Amino acid sequence: MSTTNWSVRRLGAVSEAEIDGLTDVLMDCVEGGASVSFMHPLTRERAVEFWRRVAQAVAAGERALLVAEDAEGLCGTVQLIFDLPENQPHRADLVKMLVHRRARRRGLGAALLQAAEATARECGKTLLVLDAVTGGDGARLYERLGWVRVGDIPGYALFPQGGFCSTTFYYRELRKDSSGWEEH
Ligand SMILES: CC(C)(COP(=O)(O)OP(=O)(O)OC[C@H]1O[C@@H](n2cnc3c(N)ncnc32)[C@H](O)[C@@H]1OP(=O)(O)O)[C@@H](O)C(=O)NCCC(=O)NCCS
Repeated sequence: MSTTNWSVRRLGAVSEAEIDGLTDVLMDCVEGGASVSFMHPLTRERAVEFWRRVAQAVAAGERALLVAEDAEGLCGTVQLIFDLPENQPHRADLVKMLVHRRARRRGLGAALLQAAEATARECGKTLLVLDAVTGGDGARLYERLGWVRVGDIPGYALFPQGGFCSTTFYYRELRKDSSGWEEH
């Protein structure tokens, strides 16, 4: 049985061991049917290639990468994309919220989301945007934590095994008052 002790941190640079752990998490999520940009079967090579590109973006300051770890190792992750058009310096896209199946339903997803929101505030962002499979595990998480539902686009993406899935867009405003950053 998994331990209940875990922690979340932001990576300033991504090591080979971390790329390995992130690859395991991504492959597990795709195998589990999550619609997160990739089709099944996702080879290890392609998954590693994806995380190497993310690592480069992190090094360039274009993305923030957060990871959750427990006693068995890296078990969850989420990213903020800062590399947006010059007329959107105040916002970020939240992407690739992934928790390994072995570590789900223990609050890691919520902790990663809250840590990503805190990171966005620290970076001076006031608006976050994301999309999720309509009615999926992610959508429930975002609604539970106060994200505002904009609407659904039917047939926006494919599930990894095939078949169209509807996507729901969400946003979250992060506002500053006299005492510091505050959720809106
Ligand atoms: C979406 C996802 C990140 C959620 O991660 P998670 O770590 O399971 O999230 P949480 O544990 O915070 O919450 C999940 C559920 O567990 C429940 N939960 C949280 N802590 C719990 C605990 N200690 N005991 C029992 N249940 C708990 C939550 O209430 C929530 O319930 P609900 O789904 O019925 O609303 C995860 O399912 C995942 O990676 N899915 C595949 C990838 C994906 O779809 N990502 C979203 C892309 S938009």
